[in-house]
Amino acid sequence: MRIGVIGAAGKIGQMRVRTILDRPGTTLAAVMDMTMDAARAHAHGAPAFTDLAQFLATPMDAVVISTPAHVREPLCIAAFAAGLHVLSEKPLAHSVAASRRILDAAMAAKRHLGAGFNMRYYPAFAYVKDVMASGRIGEIDHIRIYGGHEGLPKFAHDWEYKAEVSGGGALWDVGIHMTDMARHLLGEIVSVYGVATEKVWKVPGSEDNAMAIFKSPSGVAAIYQATWTDWKGYKSAVEVYGSHGMVRGAYAPMENMLLTMSEPGGAVTTRKNRYPGIQIREKLKSWKTTALLSFQAELDEFVGLLEGRRDLRIADGHAALRAVEIAAAVPESSRTGQPVTLADLGPMRV
Ligand SMILES: NC(=O)c1ccc[n+]([C@@H]2O[C@H](COP(=O)([O-])OP(=O)(O)OC[C@H]3O[C@@H](n4cnc5c(N)ncnc54)[C@H](O)[C@@H]3O)[C@@H](O)[C@H]2O)c1
Repeated sequence: MRIGVIGAAGKIGQMRVRTILDRPGTTLAAVMDMTMDAARAHAHGAPAFTDLAQFLATPMDAVVISTPAHVREPLCIAAFAAGLHVLSEKPLAHSVAASRRILDAAMAAKRHLGAGFNMRYYPAFAYVKDVMASGRIGEIDHIRIYGGHEGLPKFAHDWEYKAEVSGGGALWDVGIHMTDMARHLLGEIVSVYGVATEKVWKVPGSEDNAMAIFKSPSGVAAIYQATWTDWKGYKSAVEVYGSHGMVRGAYAPMENMLLTMSEPGGAVTTRKNRYPGIQIREKLKSWKTTALLSFQAELDEFVGLLEGRRDLRIADGHAALRAVEIAAAVPESSRTGQPVTLADLGPMRV
């Protein structure tokens, strides 16, 4: 599988390049970035470009697009027009309309669109999904889900938080992973009711906090918060409550708790996973080692998707679009005081 990378010199782009080079069965077909020096410095011997048409003329099967979101639409649309499959970073684009056009282009070209929701592969969150599927906590009643950090000091560039390029605030940044996680766990989200606030950082259009209730088609609810005012630091967490117990997954640190009962209110059994290997590796090296492993798992599944495998947890184009629709729906609900109903996306055609 020949894979190119656009934005190869970026923080995440460099990690994407590394996963392609390290994986048996994939080759780095070409790289592209804004300057030839930057592209060449991260090409590892592959052809390097700054021009999109020349990059796309290189023989390849797929492209990873690891640029900021606001430049993604023309890159994705050109890649689909060239017959390539695309793995895009989150958020898919900086607006719902641009995200829809990207998805439409994928479907028109009959090419796969994978979404970079790599937290699906973090062991603690994969465990939550597996426990739900196993039936061990019984019938699912509701979910609590959270993603946050301390806000503006976390960012290296202003494109990461200015709404006109980022799309918005905490919902589009740290929160979008947990928005996707809520949908990944619930199956689909069709209704959003919420409050978004901009009291602290005062970046117009970029919410510091979003609190919302998401509903699945069968009415199972997730209570959600995305925040840029968690002064304690970065954390994502999910708790799923069922008739016979609950399961929690969190990062960082990576951890799980599973509580099961033979019947509601019956004798409780608890189990904790603390992933000491991950915690030691992150202390000795960096959190980036955990992200890199998730990008490796995601690349395996992206290749699997292209090969026609169906037993995958990779986020598809619908996941990418719905996460952006929800990021726009919470502030809309906050403005109107009404829930926002999200239309059925129909089948994800390839
Ligand atoms: N999944 C995750 O864990 C995760 C974490 C951080 C960031 N991200 C996402 O990854 C993306 C990149 O973030 P980053 O932190 O690596 O940013 P970055 O600024 O470090 O890298 C972006 C790269 O894209 C290049 N670029 C910009 N516009 C381009 C264009 N038109 N054509 C070619 N190259 C272009 C830049 O020169 C730069 O090298 C963003 O969408 C971000 O939200 C994902």
